[in-house]
Amino acid sequence: MFRIGDLTIENPLVLAPMEDVSNLAFRLIAKRIGGPGLMFTEFVSAMAIHYGASKTLRKMRVHPDERPLAIQIFGGDPDIMAETALIAQDMGADVLDVNMGCWVPKVCKTGSGAALLKDPDLAERIVAKLATTVRIPVTVKVRAGWDYSMFAAPELAKRFEGAGAKMITLHARFARQGFDGQADWKLIRDLRAAVTVPLIGNGDVKTPEDALRMLSETGCDGVMVGRAAISNPWALARIKAALVGEPQPNLPTLGDRVRTALEHIERMIELESESEDGELRACRALRGQIPLYIKGEQGAAQARERLTHCSTLEEYRSVLEGFAAATPTHPS
Ligand SMILES: Cc1cc2nc3c(=O)[nH]c(=O)nc-3n(C[C@H](O)[C@H](O)[C@H](O)COP(=O)(O)O)c2cc1C
Repeated sequence: MFRIGDLTIENPLVLAPMEDVSNLAFRLIAKRIGGPGLMFTEFVSAMAIHYGASKTLRKMRVHPDERPLAIQIFGGDPDIMAETALIAQDMGADVLDVNMGCWVPKVCKTGSGAALLKDPDLAERIVAKLATTVRIPVTVKVRAGWDYSMFAAPELAKRFEGAGAKMITLHARFARQGFDGQADWKLIRDLRAAVTVPLIGNGDVKTPEDALRMLSETGCDGVMVGRAAISNPWALARIKAALVGEPQPNLPTLGDRVRTALEHIERMIELESESEDGELRACRALRGQIPLYIKGEQGAAQARERLTHCSTLEEYRSVLEGFAAATPTHPS
């Protein structure tokens, strides 16, 4: 348990913001099965909201069952970000998170995301502006710095705390690294000494053992999990059980995986229901994720390949249920 301002987070597992993954469909499943104490939306462009992009606005929809929820925004202009922050608050966000970790050129060249790590004055002004604009707590997700030449996070985090930030998350890599190499958890430990607000550690946590080790080696208050949770909410359930000292839950059966994959598709279609070709959009968007639900099952290679071409719920259903029916059941 930890607190972000006045908000109590019931357990230390945090679901990461992931573009094109951490949408409402995914989050509702992650919450029900994995039970993280806090979840993040994928990042939302403040500039897109400013220009009235309805597709971007839909990314900020909040369902009561998924709270507490952090809506993450990105941008480089304090006033434009403040507009979006107010909308996020009105839409039901419990926390407003600022992205200062995204390293991809399309984001950084607008002065947003990890580019802010190179402009501490602007980064601090953004935090100060947001903290005085919204009632909900403002938090920041950073990387260690832009490149290896400077571990910028401690100095930045101190300034953010002074400007009103109520929690810091560190993805323990430098921006220039992208996803290369291993996350260096020593950076989390070093940042711990610099701030008094809750610190969430992030990077390469895949198992319950990883999560416990991150907590004990770094002194962080919470553990954020990203990639390990994609198409695998049961990984969250196992990590959460370890973090709160409960027995490990059973592994999912193939039937559980197939049912959950189908639920994921149905929920995505519902999310896209405002578009005329919503089913197609939803099915296409999930072509990378649905095959992962059966990854590791014996003989799944062919079915996984077929799943990367599905365009309707019925096509997905036929491949997934066909695979399950043809796979001998074994005790879990
Ligand atoms: C597909 C994908 C999309 C991501 N999108 C975001 C994002 O929108 N905002 C953000 O702060 N981080 C984003 N990240 C980074 C993750 O939140 C997290 O910091 C990173 O994946 C490291 O954690 P992990 O090793 O548990 O995956 C993304 C990562 C992935 C894999």
